[in-house]
Amino acid sequence: MNLQGRDFLTLLDYSPKEIEYLLQLAAELKAKKKAGIAHDVLRGKNVALIFEKTSTRTRCSFEVAAHDLGMGSTYLDPTGSQIGKKESIADTAQVLSGMFEGIEYRGYGQEIVQQLAQYAAVPVWNGLTNEYHPTQILADFLTIQEHFGHLQGLKFVYMGDARYNMGNSLMIGCAKMGLDFVACAPKAYHPAPALVQTCRELAAQSGGSVTLTEDTDAVAGADVVYTDVWVSMGEPTQVWVERIDALAAYQVNAALMQKAKPTAIFMHCLPAYHDHNTAVGKEMGEKFHRDAMEVTDEVFNGAQSVVFQEAENRMHTIKAVMAATLGAQFK
Ligand code: CP
Ligand code: NVA
Repeated sequence: MNLQGRDFLTLLDYSPKEIEYLLQLAAELKAKKKAGIAHDVLRGKNVALIFEKTSTRTRCSFEVAAHDLGMGSTYLDPTGSQIGKKESIADTAQVLSGMFEGIEYRGYGQEIVQQLAQYAAVPVWNGLTNEYHPTQILADFLTIQEHFGHLQGLKFVYMGDARYNMGNSLMIGCAKMGLDFVACAPKAYHPAPALVQTCRELAAQSGGSVTLTEDTDAVAGADVVYTDVWVSMGEPTQVWVERIDALAAYQVNAALMQKAKPTAIFMHCLPAYHDHNTAVGKEMGEKFHRDAMEVTDEVFNGAQSVVFQEAENRMHTIKAVMAATLGAQFK
C-alpha cells in the first residue's frame, strides 16, 4: 500500500482497503509507542498546523504525533495567520509548501481545505471542516476494532444533528467499512440526500447499510451509540434554543442505552456537554434548566463509555495518516 503524496480531505477519497491499512498502521504505531520503541523516521521534516477554529485533541494529536515521528511542527492559531484575510488560500498554500512537508487545516468550508490541497505541493490533512472530520473517524474505528475485534456487521447508531461534520463522516466511514449506520434525529437533522445516496451505494458494496429514522427505538440492537454536540464550533449561540427543542428527545441517557445491546459502547468525539463543569455547559444548562445536553453524565462516565480511549486514539491514527502520506518507512 503506497499513500505517499496523498491528501487526506474526506474518507470519500479513500478505499476500504486504504482505510483498513491506515487503521492497521495506527495499531502498529500505538504498540510501538506503548513499548517505548522509537519511530522517529521522519527526522528533518516539518509540518504546518493551521487552526481557524479551536482544538484540544486534534492539535495535540498532530503535535505529539509529529514529534514522535521526528518532525517539527508550527502551530498557526485562529488569530495568528493571514490566511483568507490578508492572503489568499492559493498564495498561502504555495508559501507553506516551500517550508513544510505537510499541512493540516481546521476551519470552515470544505472548499477551503480543497483549495489549499489544490495549490499545495505537499499533502494536506483535514483537521475538521463544517462538512467533514475524517481523522476523527479513523480514531473511532480503531477504538471500535480494539473493543469488538472487527468493524464489519456492527450496528452503529448516531444520535443527534446528523447534517454536520460528524454525522456526514461517520456515515461515509460506516458505509465504506460495512457497518449498519443509523442516523437517529428529527427529519430536518438528517444528512443531505445526495450524500445519503452516495453512502447507500458504498454500503451496497461493503455489506453495510444506511438508515435514517426519527424513532429512538432504532437504538435496539446497537453495538455502538454515538453522539456529538448539538451546537458546533462557529455556530451562533442563538441556535441553542432550537437545538434543545429539536434534539432533547435524542439525548443519550441511561434509558436510551438500555435499548441498545448490553455489550454496546458509548462514543463521542468530544468535547461534550455532560455536566455544568464548562462555561458553556453551565450557562446553557442553567438557562434551559438542564443538567446535561447531548449525553448525561451517568452515561458519559459510565462503564459503557470509551470516550477517553477514543480521544487517545486520535493521536495514533493522525500519526498513521502523516506517516503514510509522507512515505515513512518503519523497520
Ligand atoms: N474531537 C476533536 O476534534 O476535538 P478537538 O476539537 O479538541 O480537536
Ligand atoms: N461537530 C463538532 C465536532 C467537534 C469535534 C464541531 O464541529 O464543533
